[in-house]
Amino acid sequence: MEHALPVSRHDFDERMIPLYAPADFIPVRGEGSHLWDQQGKEYIDFAGGIAVNALGHAHPAVVAALTEQAGMLWHVGNGYTNEPVLRLAKQLIDATFAEKVFFCNSGAEANEAALKLARKYALDTVGHEKNQIVAFNNAFHGRTLFTVSAGGQPKYSQDFAPLPAGIVHTDFNDLAAAASVINDKTCAVIVEPIQGEGGVVPADTVFLRGLRELCDRHQALLIFDEVQTGVGRTGDLYAYMQYGVIPDVLTTAKALGCGFPIGAMITTNRLAAAFSVGTHGTTYGGNPLATAVAGTVFELIRSPVLLAGVKQRHQWFMDELASINTQYPVFADIRGRGLLIGCELLPAFAGKAKAITQLANEEGVIALIAGPDVVRFTPSLIIPEADVREGLARFTRAIAKIYG
Ligand SMILES: Cc1ncc(COP(=O)(O)O)c(C=O)c1O
Repeated sequence: MEHALPVSRHDFDERMIPLYAPADFIPVRGEGSHLWDQQGKEYIDFAGGIAVNALGHAHPAVVAALTEQAGMLWHVGNGYTNEPVLRLAKQLIDATFAEKVFFCNSGAEANEAALKLARKYALDTVGHEKNQIVAFNNAFHGRTLFTVSAGGQPKYSQDFAPLPAGIVHTDFNDLAAAASVINDKTCAVIVEPIQGEGGVVPADTVFLRGLRELCDRHQALLIFDEVQTGVGRTGDLYAYMQYGVIPDVLTTAKALGCGFPIGAMITTNRLAAAFSVGTHGTTYGGNPLATAVAGTVFELIRSPVLLAGVKQRHQWFMDELASINTQYPVFADIRGRGLLIGCELLPAFAGKAKAITQLANEEGVIALIAGPDVVRFTPSLIIPEADVREGLARFTRAIAKIYG
């Protein structure tokens, strides 16, 4: 695009509704775990969007899947089905507990569908009084009004009242507290196996097992929001496999499209039967472009070798981060699973996560935050060892600066 209109970061402030505060540089190209900005500066990408680019940037097989499909068929609408969507549905079903799939375009939409399914299933099987949803403090499920209300961060929902009713929040990883609010009026419990936005906080196994039992006892659906943890991020295809707890409904997005928007809600035949023609839908869900990309992504990521590589990379990060913390003690905790890693800052550095990522940018590495006190890493699942080492060397320089 030689004659494209020149643009700069200033144009963002000028013309974009100010919902985001992007970095002061503009990435223009990506390859593997590297990004380059308008000025040609190179960065090692330990963020991958927000846990999205699970195969890095411009993975040749994914580019091929997209471009091949782009030359064939983009969109037909839901009055017709298409080949890539049917293939992807089979892949998801073959690889998981699920028997039926609904496709949409984002994580929020997948969760919206899951919550609607739970309400509809309870209505059909019990009646209107079974409509309560139990969710957890600090959870994040998306930005539609229903999902932001289910999320456990009131700052994201309170200004949009009146909010959907019938959602109860309780503390994550507190089984006794959950038991006190889950009852026969509960139609669903929605939980992230690892709270991502809430600070990279893994659920305890006993907590998820306990939720499973409580849901069974009260005929409530257990919904796992695996939008961030899914598609290999934790070193297993889905985190539920690691925990050995099978949900009734699972939502997946982010890494599924590696940057091409797609989301899915997967469930069993019995529950899917609560939805019928016209009950729910979306114009773009399951379109051939997104599902062709996701089919290729899914096939690559579900390979045992790739998943074992995620666990190996986890160890490289954990060892190196521990050694950075010995040299410059700034972290109170380094946690997470697979390549979803959070470093919680010591009280002396509270609120400095964003400043650390900005310093990291200056050094040529891109990291994320998960709240004001946690630096988060969600790199490509196939990031080469040399990039891990070089990126963490750059990150060390950023930490040295904040350490003073
Ligand atoms: C666990 C979880 N659920 C849902 C969402 C929302 O996904 P999306 O932004 O694609 O709507 C996110 C996004 O960060 C997430 O981490």
